[in-house]
Amino acid sequence: MTPVTLEFRALDTADFGVLVEIEATPPAMAIDTFASAPEQVRSRFNDAGGLMVVRGLDALAHTPEQLVRISELFGPEVENYRSTLTSARFFHDDVPEIIVLSNRPPCNHPPPPPPDPALTETGALPVQFPHQQNWHTDQSYRRPPPDITLLFGVTTPPPDQGQTLFADCTAAYAALDPDMKDRVGRLTGIHAPGWIGRTPDDVRAGVEPKTLLAHQQPQHHPLVRLHPVTGRPALYICEEKQMDFVDGPIKGLSTGPDGDGAALLRDLLRHATRPEFTYIHQWSPGDLVIGDNRCLLHAATWYDADRHERLMWRTTVMGNPGAEYAGQTKSWIPPAGYAPMHGMEDA
Ligand SMILES: [Fe+2]
Repeated sequence: MTPVTLEFRALDTADFGVLVEIEATPPAMAIDTFASAPEQVRSRFNDAGGLMVVRGLDALAHTPEQLVRISELFGPEVENYRSTLTSARFFHDDVPEIIVLSNRPPCNHPPPPPPDPALTETGALPVQFPHQQNWHTDQSYRRPPPDITLLFGVTTPPPDQGQTLFADCTAAYAALDPDMKDRVGRLTGIHAPGWIGRTPDDVRAGVEPKTLLAHQQPQHHPLVRLHPVTGRPALYICEEKQMDFVDGPIKGLSTGPDGDGAALLRDLLRHATRPEFTYIHQWSPGDLVIGDNRCLLHAATWYDADRHERLMWRTTVMGNPGAEYAGQTKSWIPPAGYAPMHGMEDA
């Protein structure tokens, strides 16, 4: 066996993000190589704005528990999804720290709709909201929200489908004019999962919001978060299906899908997802993509789910959400005798 040195280089199709390619024999040694340099990996990740693409870790597909080991490089706690607000159909059979995202049973996770138009005038994939939908940061309906998401491609559609888009919300914030920075810096977003009757479509259809236990309530987060490692400010927003349009989406502004809060949210989403702030990840099996939820938005794109299987494993790391959340207990812990998803079993 030959020792392998990690080499990092900037992504060549974005202004943020770092690429690591590891070639090791036997392939499982690539996992040891990556795991052997935790401080180097973390500093490169933070320096690159919280996005890292790793190629060469294909062996993870046969050793899912090793994905947990890799995840531990990025923070003090790798979440057990069975104790979070997550539907049971996403649970991995053997590793509770892995959520399974697949269009096949029992998960049956459908692809998002195709963008409209399907391609831009120059033939590129539209990335900007609202042409591209589904922009979010993971599980922002909890407090503290998670820090970092690791996404491993086990089975992936062709590279021109089922991409994952990332938007650099640090750069997007920096590009706002001073008046807007001042305005958003004083505002709070109200985040909610899509299954509790608080989406724009729910409000327009007159759906009665679900009765919630205390640990299932929408959560408030500042529209601008300071990154706990870099100290840099970043927009912290989500698209419509993960914000509360009954009491929000922005505290203190008029509510609902046609209110001032919705208008500001859409303006910010349009701004943050401009092509100059985004990266398109075209998947190959064995890719591991690591994204910082504290300073990035991401979105999955459409793929032909009748023709192609998409099987992704995801882990989430928490434990360093920043001063805003200092000393707070986990909002999603249910009262004794209740499951986290009590009353939401059909979600
Ligand atoms: Fe996500």
